[in-house]
Amino acid sequence: MGKQGALDKAGEALSLSDGTLVSDLFDQEKREVSLRVYHDQEIFDLEMEHLFAKSWLPVAHESEIPNPGDYVRRYAGLDSCLIVRNDDMSISALLNACTHRGMSLCKDEKGNRANFKCPYHGWAFNKKGKLLGAPFEKQMYEGALRENVDALSLTTAKVAELGGMVFVNWDHDAPDFDTYLGDFSWYLRAVMERTNRGLEAVGPPQRHIMRANWKLLAEQLADGYHARSLHESAAQMGALGHNNDPLSWAMIGINVSTPGGHTMRCVDFRSTYQMAGLSEDASVAEMLAAIPPPGVSADLTREIPDNLTPGQMKMLAETPPVVAGLFPGTDFFTMMGVGGSDKGGHGPLFVARTWIPRAPDMFEMLSWVLVERDAPDELREKTRLTSIRNFGISGFIEQDDAEAWQGIQKVVQGPVGRRQTSKYQAQLGINRPDDFEGGGDVYAGFSRDDAQWAWWKRYAEVMGG
Ligand code: FES
Ligand code: FE
Repeated sequence: MGKQGALDKAGEALSLSDGTLVSDLFDQEKREVSLRVYHDQEIFDLEMEHLFAKSWLPVAHESEIPNPGDYVRRYAGLDSCLIVRNDDMSISALLNACTHRGMSLCKDEKGNRANFKCPYHGWAFNKKGKLLGAPFEKQMYEGALRENVDALSLTTAKVAELGGMVFVNWDHDAPDFDTYLGDFSWYLRAVMERTNRGLEAVGPPQRHIMRANWKLLAEQLADGYHARSLHESAAQMGALGHNNDPLSWAMIGINVSTPGGHTMRCVDFRSTYQMAGLSEDASVAEMLAAIPPPGVSADLTREIPDNLTPGQMKMLAETPPVVAGLFPGTDFFTMMGVGGSDKGGHGPLFVARTWIPRAPDMFEMLSWVLVERDAPDELREKTRLTSIRNFGISGFIEQDDAEAWQGIQKVVQGPVGRRQTSKYQAQLGINRPDDFEGGGDVYAGFSRDDAQWAWWKRYAEVMGG
């Protein structure tokens, strides 16, 4: 019998209660993963402990809390947290749990407060979580509280920002945010930090529950292969390139993975520029102005050279990123989609999303629509409409994906079904184009399983001990 849910201090591998090592769920040579990873409560519990309680996770966009005292209540993993704007305009992330007996401090989803007072016995904490005092302090504690303010203040998470998205990490010993991003920083900053005043969220995030394991979404982010089958209806509406041309932007381009498990799909835009009537020798600036990156107006493309390197601009123009995933709980979709107005037509979509695992067969999705702060109102509305019509509660691309995620989740309920494996043998190999500046492992060509398998390798590394 293995040690249930424990990583031995000496580095012994994680194991499940039936003796199976978590690492046995992966066949590294055949590149296969047991479908059991989507089913077991024990695996879920280990993920919450070893992944979500130790990783950088997005919880808000800073534009949701513009004024001192503004806060939103969110989850980072299974833990409720309060994201608070301080008087010095920095941002705190507080565990929503009183240090006296553990009561939730706050039930409101958002608001503005000078401090947080626990409803149970009345202990009060400031915006940075420091204990301010307690009712009847002298009668109850005779000064002992004052001597222990640090120990009795709220648990906090580390906070970092990227393009205004607020990330938190409960593990104060975890690598800092830039180290966590590693080579992926170059790609993400090209998507998130393009203009002088940066991005803002268009309203609060949409939220919905999905009856599937969170990894079915996370491992799919680098999967270009499913687009023309599962998303055939989107293809018929012209959202995924044109006709059956394999150069169509969903299938061919540059996939990227980094050792940290982050993945990105960049698409070949040659056919799109041809359709737009641009000459083959158009400059990068002309390409960006002709079809601005989602969320950016043609006018605002003039600010891009002030913020990005020539290599980043070349990537945005020639092989624009469409899907990026940060291991383990974040993605960004930035592409052209259908549904840009009430009369139809194309529009830009730009969403940042996070998933909050609730159970082995359930996660909650939060989806923020992003747009440049200085974008004109018409573009803002078009981006909002296209984004929520493709992703979010009623998004038709998301509904397609939900079919696959929930379909697999039904299979793994059966003891026979979950003996099967998920297969990743279609490998292109690392083949970085000479003139491509981005780091990490780069796979150019038809989107195969390379980046998806890299995601699983990172997962196995963290979970396998
Ligand atoms: Fe919060 Fe007692 S549990 S004051
Ligand atoms: Fe999809």
